[in-house]
Amino acid sequence: MSKGFIPNHFIDEVLGRVDIIEIVNQRVPLKKMGNSFKACCPFHQEKTPSFMVNQSKQLYHCFGCGAKGNVITFLMEYEKLEFVEAIEFLAHHEGMVIPYERRSNISPEAERKTQTTLTALNEANLFFQRELKKPDHQKARDYLQKRDLTAEDIERFNIGFAPDSWNALLTTLKSKGANEQMLEEAGLIIPAQNKPNHFYDRFRDRVMFPIRNRKGETIAFGGRIIGDGEPKYLNSPETPVFHKGKELYGLYELRRDVRNYNEILVVEGYMDVVMMSHFGIQNVVATLGTAMSNTQVSNLFRYTHSIVFCFDGDNAGQNAAYKAMENALPVLHSEKEIRFLFLPDNHDPDSYLKAHGREAFNQLVQNALPLSEYLFNHFENKYSLETIEGRSQLLSDMGTLINSMPDIPLRDLLRAELGKKTNVTRNILNKHVERGRVINQRLPQNNQNQGKNLVERGIVLLLNNLQLVQTIHNYEFLLDSDEKGAKVLYQLITTVLDHPEIKTTAQLLGKFQDKPWIQYVESLSVLDHMLEESLHQTEFEDALRRLSQRADPRKQILAKFAKGLTLTSEELKLLNNKN
Ligand code: UTP
Ligand code: MN
Repeated sequence: MSKGFIPNHFIDEVLGRVDIIEIVNQRVPLKKMGNSFKACCPFHQEKTPSFMVNQSKQLYHCFGCGAKGNVITFLMEYEKLEFVEAIEFLAHHEGMVIPYERRSNISPEAERKTQTTLTALNEANLFFQRELKKPDHQKARDYLQKRDLTAEDIERFNIGFAPDSWNALLTTLKSKGANEQMLEEAGLIIPAQNKPNHFYDRFRDRVMFPIRNRKGETIAFGGRIIGDGEPKYLNSPETPVFHKGKELYGLYELRRDVRNYNEILVVEGYMDVVMMSHFGIQNVVATLGTAMSNTQVSNLFRYTHSIVFCFDGDNAGQNAAYKAMENALPVLHSEKEIRFLFLPDNHDPDSYLKAHGREAFNQLVQNALPLSEYLFNHFENKYSLETIEGRSQLLSDMGTLINSMPDIPLRDLLRAELGKKTNVTRNILNKHVERGRVINQRLPQNNQNQGKNLVERGIVLLLNNLQLVQTIHNYEFLLDSDEKGAKVLYQLITTVLDHPEIKTTAQLLGKFQDKPWIQYVESLSVLDHMLEESLHQTEFEDALRRLSQRADPRKQILAKFAKGLTLTSEELKLLNNKN
């Protein structure tokens, strides 16, 4: 949990002390070229160096892909660290002590509680690990050995054993200063039904898998019964430090031990993660007995471009895949992909690896189905495309899914494919599946230009037709946007809305004659957007929607920070607060 808030002045001190050349050079060997240092860019593929690091400015910039920033943003990107973690890393590197400040929005009381909960869980983790090594518990070690786990596997995942006792953990932790209330809060003990103030250990006679958060703190456990019995796995309840729909088993170990992961595999079981690691496949995480949530998907997309869901081939696996897909669609980006792997013959990854080995498994991963193939396979198995009824079911189900996707090219292609498969007219398709980026089909441009011109496009459209503002709702975000011209667009929109008497563009511009940006807007007012009038509304709404999707405040603050500007305490709070 949080140690507190890192104050602005300390960030300045760190930036003043550390040398970006040293930090970058340790990761990406640099060559000196006059005033700057050069390398092949670590953030995109290239053969000739266009990544420059400037020592006097303490900034980097890649002329190939446009990546730029300071030493903190470099570490965030390169090491996939959070803002706070990057500062902690650098402070440690420089031997500086961080003067954490209390977070204003968390009460000291709540913070203390979290801390004692984490301490209890950590103590429990150590206890279970010690128990596994005790001579009395040969049975647990035999079980793990029977399942082919080595000492190394056990160590990597801190696997332990909860002895067959009603109070072994309770007694041990109490002797270390814990009390019942905090242990119950941590989900480690359960109140007895008919004996008031009496508690017993939740986990008894089970192999224990600690679940760790991003920082390696133990936040929960999954306990497996030894041999057969019900429930097979007993898990910690939801607690203030554990939300099973957010966490992923193995993510901490993955980030700690794996240097390069272009792809992350998601499996269903604890044991699968451990056995895959045993076979040398460590870019793996597991959900915690729930469907993959969109929080979990977007969390993984912070670390990788590609997620492969590995499911058992049975019905349960098919259902889990469908849910994962449903939850992943809304958080896809154009540079991210998800794929699907179904294991044959009722195998799970653990049993498949044991039966067929690592090479065969890797082959399956390579052949995993892209989203589009998975989707159409799924529906073609479900509905007959020979009948009108089947095709209408497909149109309805796929339409819903496509409508949940953000505006990325894949969406348009799936939509087009759906049109072909169902063989419906364009009108029918339009009725069921919203159209995506009309604007980009009409005005082909490369991606970068598109990004830059979204605000301008909005301004041009508005100046050509003031009526467009009447149907929009979401534009307040423009005020907080750092994109060039966003605030101008905001003022234009609100002025038209606030002044019904304004009927022409000239009147509108007349209101702003004293503004420094008026010339820029006037130059835009003579542009024609070259679109059919019937499309203006969609285009304008589309531009605003995409701008709002881009307006992730954290990204914007980081962009500001990367330019070397000092952050306000509000901005800092936002960056400090994530996790
Ligand atoms: P599996 O039954 O596939 O477990 O459940 P597994 O990991 O392959 O375990 P082994 O190989 O039989 O030892 C997949 C996941 O579903 C959750 C757990 O997170 C488990 O890892 N689960 C399963 C439970 O939470 N409770 C259960 O009783 C069963
Ligand atoms: Mn299994």
